[in-house]
Amino acid sequence: MNIKKPKHISSERLILRPIVIEDLEVIQNYSIDTEWHRFLDFHTKESVEEFVTKAVNSPWEEHARFSIMFDNHMVGGVGLYIEMKEKRAEIGYSLSKNYWGKGIIPEAVTRVIKYGFEEMKLEKIFAQTDLRNTPSQAVMKKMNMTKEGTFRKHSIAQNKRRDIVYYSILKSEWENK
Ligand SMILES: CC(C)(COP(=O)(O)OP(=O)(O)OC[C@H]1O[C@@H](n2cnc3c(N)ncnc32)[C@H](O)[C@@H]1OP(=O)(O)O)[C@@H](O)C(=O)NCCC(=O)NCCS
Repeated sequence: MNIKKPKHISSERLILRPIVIEDLEVIQNYSIDTEWHRFLDFHTKESVEEFVTKAVNSPWEEHARFSIMFDNHMVGGVGLYIEMKEKRAEIGYSLSKNYWGKGIIPEAVTRVIKYGFEEMKLEKIFAQTDLRNTPSQAVMKKMNMTKEGTFRKHSIAQNKRRDIVYYSILKSEWENK
């Protein structure tokens, strides 16, 4: 399945456009914040550069990464890591701390879930986070995702093993909501 990269998609307050290499500096600037990356390894200049370069160069049908434009500023991102054979994707998201608490990520994630189910013909979208990352789980709950379970000491971030919680939504559930 060859899915064309869109120029952009939009929601009430946001324009979501494919990530470009010029986004690197903004992402480096907001991810350096210690509260921002408290559950993540994604915070050194090098790790952010590797992530952005990979996202920009990945085939769209494998990693569809949108940058979020709000009030003409690039403020964060939402991406789908796609397993096309399984019609399934993991959704990941992040936002500059200056914009937390305004419902920006729920709005962006709602739009990208719609894109995933309608345009990419996915049938399941899941998300995972550190068990202690309550803001991220709040987003999953707002998406009406169902908790699948907790994987004990599943990942390593900042040299510590982390409990990881998984949530998901099926296309049929999304259509019926
Ligand atoms: C998780 C995250 C994406 C949420 O985005 P958001 O657009 O702020 O989402 P919301 O506005 O719906 O707020 C979600 C929760 O964040 C918390 N929150 C809101 N404002 C906050 C603030 N100023 N400071 C700290 N936490 C805040 C609240 O728990 C809120 O839940 P509630 O609405 O039930 O009270 C954002 O906090 C973030 O980028 N965090 C750092 C990176 C990260 O952890 N990404 C997820 C990896 S899995």
